[in-house]
Amino acid sequence: MRGLFAILICGLASAYSAAAVAGGDIAAGQAKAKAVCGACHGENGDKPLQPEYPVLAGQHVDYLAKALKDYKSGARKNAIMGGQAQALSAKDIDDVTAWFSSRTGPLYVKH
Ligand code: HEC
Repeated sequence: MRGLFAILICGLASAYSAAAVAGGDIAAGQAKAKAVCGACHGENGDKPLQPEYPVLAGQHVDYLAKALKDYKSGARKNAIMGGQAQALSAKDIDDVTAWFSSRTGPLYVKH
């Protein structure tokens, strides 16, 4: 019985970690970032081309995904990103957020 319980806990733990990375395809996300987003945010999302373009590298997957879904729905309004997000499918959002989140960014909290 105890063994069964351990298996159950392991199953739950791995299901949880899979959900945390949202199942995005990092390679597909990189291709999208290179082709589209890189023009403003940089392919790695760490060196935006203008100071008003935010750094995306190292940001949480769920934060990036929420921003893109909000631009797409109109809940977050920005003329540039509204247009960009309209062109993204749900899978594109999973992929591109997995890519940018996997990069090392220049932003961190200094202790
Ligand atoms: C033409 C330039 C341009 C392109 C191309 C572009 N972005 Fe943006 N992006 C911006 C600007 C400007 C903002 C800031 C908008 C705002 O103030 O809400 C932004 C904001 C964002 C944010 C919100 C970041 C935050 O910290 O809240 C995300 C996520 C994002 N972009 C992802 C993408 C992705 C993914 C792509 C490619 C599919 C992309 N962007 C393409 C200019 C661009």
